[in-house]
Amino acid sequence: MPKIISVINLKGGVAKTTTTIQLAECLASAFSKRVLVIDLDPQTNATISLIPEVRWEELDSKGQTLYHLFNDKLERTKVFDLALARQRKVSNLKLRNLDLLASSIRFIDIQDRISEIPSMTGFALNPMEILKSVVHPILSEYDFVLIDCPPNLGFITRNGIEISDHYLIPSIPDTLSTYGIPQIVRKIHQFTQERPLKISCLGLVVTKYDSRSDSHSRGKRTLPARFSKIFDDLGLPQAPIFDTVMPQANATAEAMEFTNTPVSFKQKYGRSKSGDRYLYEYVEDLTRELIAHANK
Ligand SMILES: Nc1ncnc2c1ncn2[C@@H]1O[C@H](COP(=O)(O)OP(=O)(O)O)[C@@H](O)[C@H]1O
Ligand SMILES: [Mg+2]
Repeated sequence: MPKIISVINLKGGVAKTTTTIQLAECLASAFSKRVLVIDLDPQTNATISLIPEVRWEELDSKGQTLYHLFNDKLERTKVFDLALARQRKVSNLKLRNLDLLASSIRFIDIQDRISEIPSMTGFALNPMEILKSVVHPILSEYDFVLIDCPPNLGFITRNGIEISDHYLIPSIPDTLSTYGIPQIVRKIHQFTQERPLKISCLGLVVTKYDSRSDSHSRGKRTLPARFSKIFDDLGLPQAPIFDTVMPQANATAEAMEFTNTPVSFKQKYGRSKSGDRYLYEYVEDLTRELIAHANK
Protein backbone atom coordinates (compact mmCIF):
# COMPACT_ATOMS: atom_id res chain seq x y z
CA MET A 1 0.00 0.00 0.00
CA PRO A 2 1.15 3.59 -0.64
CA LYS A 3 2.30 6.17 1.85
CA ILE A 4 -0.56 8.67 1.96
CA ILE A 5 0.42 12.18 3.01
CA SER A 6 -1.84 15.21 3.51
CA VAL A 7 -0.12 18.57 3.07
CA ILE A 8 -1.68 20.88 5.62
CA ASN A 9 -1.41 24.37 7.05
CA LEU A 10 -4.24 26.63 8.23
CA LYS A 11 -2.56 29.52 6.44
CA GLY A 12 -2.67 30.19 2.70
CA GLY A 13 0.39 31.20 0.70
CA VAL A 14 2.89 29.08 2.68
CA ALA A 15 3.72 26.83 -0.33
CA LYS A 16 1.43 23.88 0.42
CA THR A 17 0.60 23.45 -3.25
CA THR A 18 4.12 24.20 -4.47
CA THR A 19 5.56 21.64 -2.05
CA THR A 20 2.94 19.06 -3.07
CA ILE A 21 3.72 19.47 -6.78
CA GLN A 22 7.50 19.55 -6.31
CA LEU A 23 7.42 16.37 -4.23
CA ALA A 24 5.01 14.62 -6.60
CA GLU A 25 7.08 15.42 -9.69
CA CYS A 26 10.35 14.56 -8.02
CA LEU A 27 9.04 11.28 -6.59
CA ALA A 28 7.70 10.34 -10.02
CA SER A 29 10.76 11.36 -12.04
CA ALA A 30 13.98 11.22 -10.00
CA PHE A 31 12.78 8.38 -7.74
CA SER A 32 10.57 6.47 -10.22
CA LYS A 33 7.69 6.22 -7.73
CA ARG A 34 4.06 5.76 -8.76
CA VAL A 35 2.32 8.89 -7.49
CA LEU A 36 -1.27 10.12 -7.19
CA VAL A 37 -2.02 13.77 -6.37
CA ILE A 38 -5.44 14.43 -4.84
CA ASP A 39 -6.42 18.10 -5.02
CA LEU A 40 -8.93 18.96 -2.29
CA ASP A 41 -8.49 22.73 -2.46
CA PRO A 42 -11.25 24.81 -4.14
CA GLN A 43 -8.41 27.06 -5.35
CA THR A 44 -7.53 24.23 -7.81
CA ASN A 45 -3.90 25.35 -7.93
CA ALA A 46 -2.47 21.85 -7.86
CA THR A 47 -4.88 20.83 -10.61
CA ILE A 48 -3.94 23.62 -12.98
CA SER A 49 -0.24 23.09 -12.27
CA LEU A 50 -0.63 19.53 -13.52
CA ILE A 51 -3.11 19.71 -16.42
CA PRO A 52 -3.92 22.38 -19.03
CA GLU A 53 -6.74 24.70 -18.05
CA VAL A 54 -8.90 23.57 -20.99
CA ARG A 55 -8.66 19.97 -19.81
CA TRP A 56 -9.77 21.07 -16.34
CA GLU A 57 -12.75 22.94 -17.83
CA GLU A 58 -13.73 19.85 -19.76
CA LEU A 59 -13.46 17.68 -16.64
CA ASP A 60 -15.52 20.13 -14.65
CA SER A 61 -18.23 20.35 -17.29
CA LYS A 62 -18.38 16.54 -17.56
CA GLY A 63 -18.75 16.21 -13.79
CA GLN A 64 -15.38 14.57 -13.18
CA THR A 65 -13.77 16.64 -10.43
CA LEU A 66 -13.84 15.74 -6.73
CA TYR A 67 -16.50 18.38 -6.23
CA HIS A 68 -18.86 16.14 -8.18
CA LEU A 69 -18.02 13.17 -5.97
CA PHE A 70 -19.28 15.08 -2.93
CA ASN A 71 -22.15 16.72 -4.79
CA ASP A 72 -23.38 13.28 -5.89
CA LYS A 73 -23.90 12.39 -2.24
CA LEU A 74 -25.81 15.62 -1.59
CA GLU A 75 -27.95 15.40 -4.71
CA ARG A 76 -28.29 11.60 -4.82
CA THR A 77 -26.85 11.55 -8.33
CA LYS A 78 -24.14 9.31 -9.88
CA VAL A 79 -22.21 11.65 -12.14
CA PHE A 80 -18.68 11.12 -10.77
CA ASP A 81 -16.89 8.17 -12.34
CA LEU A 82 -13.42 7.41 -10.99
CA ALA A 83 -12.31 5.85 -14.28
CA LEU A 84 -13.07 9.08 -16.14
CA ALA A 85 -12.02 11.40 -13.33
CA ARG A 86 -8.55 9.96 -12.82
CA GLN A 87 -6.13 11.90 -15.03
CA ARG A 88 -3.12 9.83 -16.08
CA LYS A 89 0.39 10.92 -16.98
CA VAL A 90 -0.12 14.48 -15.85
CA SER A 91 2.36 17.40 -15.42
CA ASN A 92 4.11 19.31 -18.18
CA LEU A 93 6.99 16.85 -17.59
CA LYS A 94 4.72 14.17 -19.12
CA LEU A 95 5.42 11.71 -16.33
CA ARG A 96 3.95 8.29 -17.05
CA ASN A 97 3.62 7.45 -13.35
CA LEU A 98 1.98 10.65 -12.05
CA ASP A 99 -1.83 10.80 -11.82
CA LEU A 100 -4.31 13.39 -10.57
CA LEU A 101 -7.77 13.64 -9.10
CA ALA A 102 -8.79 17.21 -9.89
CA SER A 103 -10.49 19.80 -7.74
CA SER A 104 -13.06 22.42 -8.68
CA ILE A 105 -13.79 25.98 -7.55
CA ARG A 106 -17.37 24.80 -7.06
CA PHE A 107 -16.16 23.01 -3.91
CA ILE A 108 -16.69 26.33 -2.13
CA ASP A 109 -20.43 26.08 -2.74
CA ILE A 110 -20.86 22.77 -0.96
CA GLN A 111 -18.17 22.52 1.70
CA ASP A 112 -20.54 23.67 4.44
CA ARG A 113 -23.28 21.26 3.35
CA ILE A 114 -21.21 18.08 3.54
CA SER A 115 -22.17 17.60 7.17
CA GLU A 116 -25.79 17.12 5.99
CA ILE A 117 -24.86 13.92 4.17
CA PRO A 118 -25.47 11.40 6.99
CA SER A 119 -29.08 12.42 7.48
CA MET A 120 -29.64 12.52 3.72
CA THR A 121 -28.30 9.01 3.22
CA GLY A 122 -30.16 7.57 6.18
CA PHE A 123 -26.85 7.61 8.10
CA ALA A 124 -25.46 5.00 5.68
CA LEU A 125 -22.47 7.17 4.78
CA ASN A 126 -20.13 9.00 7.09
CA PRO A 127 -19.30 12.41 5.49
CA MET A 128 -15.66 11.86 6.48
CA GLU A 129 -15.42 8.67 4.40
CA ILE A 130 -16.61 9.87 1.01
CA LEU A 131 -13.14 10.18 -0.52
CA LYS A 132 -12.07 6.91 1.07
CA SER A 133 -15.05 5.04 -0.35
CA VAL A 134 -14.11 5.98 -3.90
CA VAL A 135 -10.28 5.88 -3.95
CA HIS A 136 -9.87 2.75 -1.87
CA PRO A 137 -9.78 0.34 -4.86
CA ILE A 138 -6.96 2.20 -6.66
CA LEU A 139 -4.62 3.02 -3.75
CA SER A 140 -2.56 -0.14 -4.16
CA GLU A 141 -1.50 1.09 -7.62
CA TYR A 142 0.64 3.82 -6.01
CA ASP A 143 3.75 4.22 -3.88
CA PHE A 144 2.83 7.73 -2.73
CA VAL A 145 -0.45 9.64 -2.56
CA LEU A 146 -0.10 13.36 -1.86
CA ILE A 147 -3.18 15.33 -0.84
CA ASP A 148 -3.16 19.11 -1.34
CA CYS A 149 -5.53 20.47 1.32
CA PRO A 150 -7.34 23.80 1.65
CA PRO A 151 -6.20 26.03 4.56
CA ASN A 152 -8.77 24.73 7.04
CA LEU A 153 -9.71 21.54 8.87
CA GLY A 154 -13.27 21.35 7.49
CA PHE A 155 -15.07 18.30 6.11
CA ILE A 156 -13.18 18.22 2.83
CA THR A 157 -9.78 18.28 4.56
CA ARG A 158 -11.10 15.70 7.05
CA ASN A 159 -11.75 13.37 4.11
CA GLY A 160 -8.05 13.58 3.27
CA ILE A 161 -6.98 13.14 6.89
CA GLU A 162 -9.20 10.07 7.10
CA ILE A 163 -7.11 8.12 4.58
CA SER A 164 -3.68 9.57 5.42
CA ASP A 165 -0.78 7.86 7.16
CA HIS A 166 0.87 11.22 7.75
CA TYR A 167 0.49 14.96 7.44
CA LEU A 168 3.23 17.34 6.40
CA ILE A 169 3.25 21.00 7.47
CA PRO A 170 4.91 23.48 5.09
CA SER A 171 5.50 26.84 6.75
CA ILE A 172 7.25 30.13 6.15
CA PRO A 173 9.40 30.69 9.27
CA ASP A 174 7.71 33.90 10.40
CA THR A 175 5.38 34.60 13.30
CA LEU A 176 2.12 34.74 11.35
CA SER A 177 2.75 31.54 9.38
CA THR A 178 3.81 29.46 12.38
CA TYR A 179 1.13 30.82 14.71
CA GLY A 180 -1.51 28.20 13.86
CA ILE A 181 0.79 25.15 13.95
CA PRO A 182 0.04 24.08 17.56
CA GLN A 183 -3.64 24.22 16.68
CA ILE A 184 -3.16 21.91 13.66
CA VAL A 185 -1.29 19.31 15.70
CA ARG A 186 -3.79 19.50 18.58
CA LYS A 187 -6.84 19.26 16.30
CA ILE A 188 -5.53 16.36 14.26
CA HIS A 189 -4.55 14.56 17.47
CA GLN A 190 -8.14 15.08 18.63
CA PHE A 191 -9.47 13.63 15.34
CA THR A 192 -7.27 10.54 15.75
CA GLN A 193 -8.83 9.90 19.14
CA GLU A 194 -12.41 10.48 18.03
CA ARG A 195 -12.41 8.22 14.96
CA PRO A 196 -9.82 6.46 15.62
CA LEU A 197 -7.24 7.24 12.89
CA LYS A 198 -3.66 6.25 12.13
CA ILE A 199 -2.42 9.65 10.94
CA SER A 200 0.75 11.10 12.48
CA CYS A 201 2.86 14.19 11.81
CA LEU A 202 5.61 13.51 9.27
CA GLY A 203 7.28 16.82 10.04
CA LEU A 204 7.57 20.48 9.17
CA VAL A 205 9.19 21.92 6.06
CA VAL A 206 10.50 25.47 6.15
CA THR A 207 9.42 27.16 2.90
CA LYS A 208 10.08 30.46 1.12
CA TYR A 209 13.05 31.10 3.39
CA ASP A 210 14.69 34.46 2.87
CA SER A 211 18.10 34.40 4.57
CA ARG A 212 18.32 38.19 4.42
CA SER A 213 15.15 38.58 6.48
CA ASP A 214 15.69 39.02 10.22
CA SER A 215 12.25 37.67 11.03
CA HIS A 216 12.89 34.54 8.93
CA SER A 217 16.26 33.81 10.50
CA ARG A 218 14.92 34.46 14.00
CA GLY A 219 11.83 32.36 13.24
CA LYS A 220 13.92 29.51 11.89
CA ARG A 221 16.21 29.59 14.94
CA THR A 222 13.38 29.45 17.48
CA LEU A 223 11.25 26.96 15.52
CA PRO A 224 12.79 23.67 16.81
CA ALA A 225 12.03 24.45 20.48
CA ARG A 226 8.54 25.74 19.71
CA PHE A 227 7.69 22.82 17.43
CA SER A 228 8.94 20.18 19.83
CA LYS A 229 6.99 21.71 22.75
CA ILE A 230 3.69 21.02 20.95
CA PHE A 231 4.36 17.29 20.90
CA ASP A 232 5.64 17.28 24.49
CA ASP A 233 2.52 19.07 25.69
CA LEU A 234 0.29 16.47 24.00
CA GLY A 235 2.45 13.52 25.03
CA LEU A 236 3.03 12.61 21.36
CA PRO A 237 6.22 11.33 19.71
CA GLN A 238 8.33 14.17 18.30
CA ALA A 239 8.09 15.03 14.60
CA PRO A 240 11.15 16.36 12.74
CA ILE A 241 11.79 19.69 11.12
CA PHE A 242 13.18 18.76 7.70
CA ASP A 243 16.87 19.58 7.26
CA THR A 244 16.16 20.84 3.76
CA VAL A 245 15.06 24.48 3.84
CA MET A 246 13.28 25.65 0.68
CA PRO A 247 14.67 29.05 -0.35
CA GLN A 248 12.58 32.00 -1.45
CA ALA A 249 13.24 32.21 -5.19
CA ASN A 250 11.18 33.75 -7.99
CA ALA A 251 12.15 30.86 -10.26
CA THR A 252 10.15 28.52 -7.99
CA ALA A 253 6.95 30.45 -8.63
CA GLU A 254 7.71 30.65 -12.36
CA ALA A 255 8.37 26.91 -12.58
CA MET A 256 4.76 26.21 -11.54
CA GLU A 257 3.29 27.59 -14.79
CA PHE A 258 1.82 24.66 -16.71
CA THR A 259 2.28 26.46 -20.02
CA ASN A 260 6.08 26.21 -19.73
CA THR A 261 7.58 23.33 -21.67
CA PRO A 262 10.40 21.94 -19.55
CA VAL A 263 12.18 18.88 -20.93
CA SER A 264 13.21 17.48 -17.57
CA PHE A 265 12.71 17.80 -13.84
CA LYS A 266 16.13 19.40 -13.50
CA GLN A 267 15.33 21.96 -16.15
CA LYS A 268 11.93 22.73 -14.65
CA TYR A 269 13.30 23.52 -11.19
CA GLY A 270 16.96 24.15 -11.82
CA ARG A 271 17.23 27.24 -13.96
CA SER A 272 18.71 29.28 -11.13
CA LYS A 273 20.70 28.86 -7.96
CA SER A 274 20.16 29.75 -4.34
CA GLY A 275 23.52 30.06 -2.66
CA ASP A 276 25.76 27.65 -4.52
CA ARG A 277 23.09 25.06 -5.27
CA TYR A 278 20.58 24.67 -8.08
CA LEU A 279 16.94 24.88 -7.05
CA TYR A 280 16.23 21.33 -8.25
CA GLU A 281 18.80 20.06 -5.72
CA TYR A 282 16.67 21.43 -2.89
CA VAL A 283 13.62 19.61 -4.27
CA GLU A 284 15.61 16.37 -4.55
CA ASP A 285 16.94 16.71 -0.99
CA LEU A 286 13.45 17.39 0.32
CA THR A 287 12.05 14.39 -1.52
CA ARG A 288 14.84 12.11 -0.27
CA GLU A 289 14.06 13.21 3.29
CA LEU A 290 10.34 12.66 2.75
CA ILE A 291 10.95 9.09 1.61
CA ALA A 292 13.24 8.44 4.59
CA HIS A 293 10.77 9.82 7.15
CA ALA A 294 7.78 8.08 5.55
CA ASN A 295 9.60 4.72 5.64
CA LYS A 296 10.53 4.94 9.32
N1 LIG B 1 10.24 28.89 -2.61
C1 LIG B 1 9.46 29.83 -3.16
N2 LIG B 1 9.99 30.99 -3.60
C2 LIG B 1 9.20 31.95 -4.13
N3 LIG B 1 7.88 31.85 -4.29
C3 LIG B 1 7.30 30.72 -3.87
C4 LIG B 1 8.04 29.64 -3.29
N4 LIG B 1 7.18 28.65 -2.98
C5 LIG B 1 5.96 29.08 -3.34
N5 LIG B 1 6.01 30.31 -3.88
C6 LIG B 1 4.90 31.12 -4.39
O1 LIG B 1 4.14 31.55 -3.25
C7 LIG B 1 2.75 31.57 -3.57
C8 LIG B 1 2.01 30.67 -2.61
O2 LIG B 1 2.43 29.33 -2.83
P1 LIG B 1 1.38 28.14 -2.83
O3 LIG B 1 2.16 26.90 -3.03
O4 LIG B 1 0.27 28.43 -3.79
O5 LIG B 1 0.86 28.25 -1.32
P2 LIG B 1 -0.42 27.57 -0.62
O6 LIG B 1 -0.79 26.36 -1.38
O7 LIG B 1 0.06 27.28 0.77
O8 LIG B 1 -1.50 28.61 -0.61
C9 LIG B 1 2.64 31.13 -5.01
O9 LIG B 1 2.57 32.26 -5.84
C10 LIG B 1 3.93 30.36 -5.25
O10 LIG B 1 4.32 30.37 -6.60
MG1 LIG C 1 -2.61 25.87 -2.31
